[in-house]
Amino acid sequence: MQLGSFTVTLGFWRKRCFTVKMFQWQRLLMPQFEKKTVHMRDPERVEQIICGLIKGGASKLQIITDFDMTLSKFAVNGKRCPTCHNVIDNCRLVTEECRTKLLQLKNKYYAIEIDPHLTMEEKYPFMVEWYFQSHSLLVEQRLEKDKLPEVVRESDAALREGFEHFFDRLHQHNVPVFIFSAGLGDVLEEIIRQAGVYTPNIKVVSNFMDFDDNGIVKGFKGELIHVYNKHDGALRNTEYFKQVREYSNIILMGDSLGDLSMADGVPNVENMLKIGFLNDKVEEQLDKYLDSYDIVLVKDETLEVPNAILQKVL
Ligand code: TMP
Ligand code: MG
Repeated sequence: MQLGSFTVTLGFWRKRCFTVKMFQWQRLLMPQFEKKTVHMRDPERVEQIICGLIKGGASKLQIITDFDMTLSKFAVNGKRCPTCHNVIDNCRLVTEECRTKLLQLKNKYYAIEIDPHLTMEEKYPFMVEWYFQSHSLLVEQRLEKDKLPEVVRESDAALREGFEHFFDRLHQHNVPVFIFSAGLGDVLEEIIRQAGVYTPNIKVVSNFMDFDDNGIVKGFKGELIHVYNKHDGALRNTEYFKQVREYSNIILMGDSLGDLSMADGVPNVENMLKIGFLNDKVEEQLDKYLDSYDIVLVKDETLEVPNAILQKVL
């Protein structure tokens, strides 16, 4: 009896894997992998991981993803799109003087964030400096909570092409989605709410503003999350990861090398597929990205590849 069911399962699994192999080899049913934007160091390994994800199906899958420049677009027609922070930097609620200071900070520290010659450890203290100064300026501006929906509506923030399919499918199959962002949580939530995709299967962990009784920002809640301290996310969110313990297959998505550590410490991982969006300084960074991410999407403003994988898995 047991042997029988094992054979059936294995047969089913083999058939599905074989189908995937055909897709990959013949490049027929996953044409998204043929796009010029798709880079892989080891396609065989990617194929194996995808097979593992398919085998586990919806009941084992969870998503751990960054937000800025991963779920959101990096550029449209060559024009940069805003991060959550930039939505505030550019809005009419901040003074010109403050905007100039925030822009100066961004020019200085973004260059450090993506500098291919510095290690993450070397960048770390600079990121703390950036966040400290930037958040202090935002608090000085006495931003009002009630104004955030309007600020987001008036901004150029945009989610990657195909986001509707991505979120709808995950919601339909009740796949847990952990959005782990060093951006501004209040802005992030408003962006996905306005996009109509903030469903109950999504958990957002980010930097949330702390408002006083009059709804004016007075600081930030909890410990700071910056681009290079995401490794203790699982430790700090033990309750969540205990709840999703059975979801042992992970698709991790990020745009920074710091995002690779988002799943550190997650218990019970069977298969993990790491998808990296490489948006900037491509030539200098591609090698490092290929060393660390299973699939690297270069200057790809869409979610076509993640969607193609989800279509097979769910
Ligand atoms: P992420 O973790 O969702 O990608 O969000 C972090 C991004 O926010 C990171 O790329 C740096 C960026 N950022 C700004 O654009 N402006 C700021 O003032 C700060 C502190 C960060
Ligand atoms: Mg990012």
